[in-house]
Amino acid sequence: MRVLVLGGTVFVGHAVATEALRRGHEVVCAARGESGPVPDGATLVRVDRDAEDGLAPLAGESFDAVVDVATVSYPWVDRALRALADRVGHWTFVSTINVYADSVTPGQRADAALVEPVQRHATREETQTEAGVGLYGGIKVASENAVRAAMGDHAFVVRPGLITGPGDTHDRFGYWPARFSRGGRVLVPDVPEQPMQYIDVRDLAGWILDAAERDLSGDFDAIGPAGPLPELLRGIAEVVGVDVEFVPATPEQLVAAKVNPWAGPRSLPFWLPPSHAALAARDAGPSLAAGMPVLALADAVSGALEHERALGLDRERNAGLTREEEADILAGL
Ligand SMILES: NC(=O)c1ccc[n+]([C@@H]2O[C@H](COP(=O)([O-])OP(=O)(O)OC[C@H]3O[C@@H](n4cnc5c(N)ncnc54)[C@H](OP(=O)(O)O)[C@@H]3O)[C@@H](O)[C@H]2O)c1
Repeated sequence: MRVLVLGGTVFVGHAVATEALRRGHEVVCAARGESGPVPDGATLVRVDRDAEDGLAPLAGESFDAVVDVATVSYPWVDRALRALADRVGHWTFVSTINVYADSVTPGQRADAALVEPVQRHATREETQTEAGVGLYGGIKVASENAVRAAMGDHAFVVRPGLITGPGDTHDRFGYWPARFSRGGRVLVPDVPEQPMQYIDVRDLAGWILDAAERDLSGDFDAIGPAGPLPELLRGIAEVVGVDVEFVPATPEQLVAAKVNPWAGPRSLPFWLPPSHAALAARDAGPSLAAGMPVLALADAVSGALEHERALGLDRERNAGLTREEEADILAGL
């Protein structure tokens, strides 16, 4: 196949391009080339999706499959479809589980109600505020609608939850293997009932390529089976294999210590606030039935830890607690 990745210079897009090359496909990546290099063997076509005619370098090109990772921009998606849809066989749009209107009811599937569509562009900073999560979801819904309208039975809409794996830029899953690798007393959220689920970027990339090869269409969550968070943390610690003592803190204690849930600075990744209690409690059944692969936890953990070590365990993180923050909080419990 001739595959176009709209992206390809970082994380998900890079993993898709890498997997497509491994399968012997011809791969073109269209991006500015600012986030990183495309994988060896792929061709980078420099485009600027902020410009109305930014995709002009792709004019006249045809592709068997397109994979678009456009994060928060309806105009990017709309322009790409207008420029290319007529000459493309299959189109994957990488959306998000933040499209769902209800984040508190567990066990939902991809046919659940969505937030209202928002046909605009947003900056990453705009989406990082509390109100920004809704904006992110709304822009993804509008983008999904455009892809379905243009590609019909050849549109594959995948909605990942938390993604881990080589190239991860969010630092959430990786916080735990990185922290456990240092050993000692580890602050963990005391939320025995909270489910957690994730997908490894290599599974996501593999499934996207399978879908393109099989012309699979429809809307799917891209997230592995949900399980209790304490079990996942114990499983990660076992794979890391360094002695650790879990020191559980209740949500009340964590809030009092000004620890943020889920992501960002001074956070405990995986711990969800009540407003998003079921963000990681979705029913993975339909996606598994449609062929979504799931790496063994040991492989996901070793991939994340290798990536963490390559970045440096003591770097400034995008998510998690610093050594000093954790020590202060433990001392105050
Ligand atoms: N990480 C998660 O846990 C998670 C969870 C759910 C969903 N998702 C979704 O997964 C996707 C992540 O995609 P990703 O990891 O590949 O990263 P990304 O950071 O969203 O990258 C987007 C791509 O767009 C390119 N780009 C940025 N500005 C551009 C411009 N003006 N013109 C052309 N290209 C431009 C970037 O390359 P250049 O900078 O080189 O141009 C990059 O390759 C997103 O759609 C996100 O919503 C992620």
